[in-house]
Amino acid sequence: MHRFTSRGLAPACLAIAASLAFAAGANAQGTGKIKVGFMLPYTGTYASLGNAIENGFKMYVQEQGGKLGGREIEYFKVDDESDPAKSPENATKLIKRDQVDVVVGTVHSGVQMGIVKVAKENNTLLIIPNAGVDEATGPLCGPNIFRSSFSNWQPGYAMGHVLAERGMKKVVTLTWKYAAGEQSVKGFKEAFEAKGGKVVKELSLPFPNVEFQALITEVASIKPDAVFVFFAGGGAVKFVKDWAAAGLKDKIPLYASGFLTDGTLEAQGAAAQGIETTLHYADGLSSPRDKSFRLEYAKAYKLQPDVYAVQGYDAAQLLAAGAGAVKGDMSKKAEVIKAMEQTKVDSPRGTFTLSKAHNPVQDFYLRKVDGRENKLGAVAVKALADPARGCRL
Ligand code: BEZ
Repeated sequence: MHRFTSRGLAPACLAIAASLAFAAGANAQGTGKIKVGFMLPYTGTYASLGNAIENGFKMYVQEQGGKLGGREIEYFKVDDESDPAKSPENATKLIKRDQVDVVVGTVHSGVQMGIVKVAKENNTLLIIPNAGVDEATGPLCGPNIFRSSFSNWQPGYAMGHVLAERGMKKVVTLTWKYAAGEQSVKGFKEAFEAKGGKVVKELSLPFPNVEFQALITEVASIKPDAVFVFFAGGGAVKFVKDWAAAGLKDKIPLYASGFLTDGTLEAQGAAAQGIETTLHYADGLSSPRDKSFRLEYAKAYKLQPDVYAVQGYDAAQLLAAGAGAVKGDMSKKAEVIKAMEQTKVDSPRGTFTLSKAHNPVQDFYLRKVDGRENKLGAVAVKALADPARGCRL
């Protein structure tokens, strides 16, 4: 690869370089808006998740009068289509073409891997508002990589703990075959098997396939004590309906990380009633913070918020902590990062801090579907920190 140094650059090149540096460093002059690049799925099975994240983020910014650190926000958007193959190119568009100060993305763990790589290469601030891929706050952690959501390990671990406590012994898992499903199962297994349970079979199908029938039949034939699954978005709606239609709803207890029933209950209807899940958000937390968030969100978007909206809202809160510390001058990267690392996020889910690897340390709730709500049951695991294996920060 050719490397430029200032020595030997032709004058025309110098002029171009100077103008680019000015464009990229506009905020350093004290005049620029903060450029936020959303890289989210706006089509496909995760489209509603991407929209909720954007809604939550923008709502927080609106609550601050449209400014963070005293600067207005300019938004850029790319539909990542939950397609890992397009991820590096899409992330590069936001960073190189649009010159964003921060990338906010994404939902899908496979797509996230591409964004992390490009953000690290360019030293661009990245806030992950959903994707749980363990590597982002594990071996690929970095000073500029932050998460406002969870690691895949966390909700799985919480449910493994719950089922072991309930004395279950023999569980089958069923997920999409990509990092989110596989790492959820890993977390589940770690907690469940440490306390004497056994995962007797791990079943999967490619993302985003929804041909569940043969796998549902296979689960039934094994007759486990319970099944643990990871599905989300449109696929979760179909799975829950297929499970009930197969007549298994009252035969084999179905447990999951909370994505199975978050933002999906209207479409799942009766098929979802009674399903128990673990997640870092629940209906009925009833803190003043959560109540006002829900009220404002319903007013602004004519929708009930879900976990994705909360994560988007908190991504904006994280950015606000960084931008506030430098009065909006996002070129002061070290100061932005330090402030983000040290902040306590006053989230609707409950206040959380970040681990050394920049992942939320947070409570995981046990919830049960009742009507259109994932009603809070208990705290399944308090202040659960991802082990951040392989992170050297
Ligand atoms: C993921 O791919 O990491 C993911 C997608 C939807 C919900 C939760 C996790």
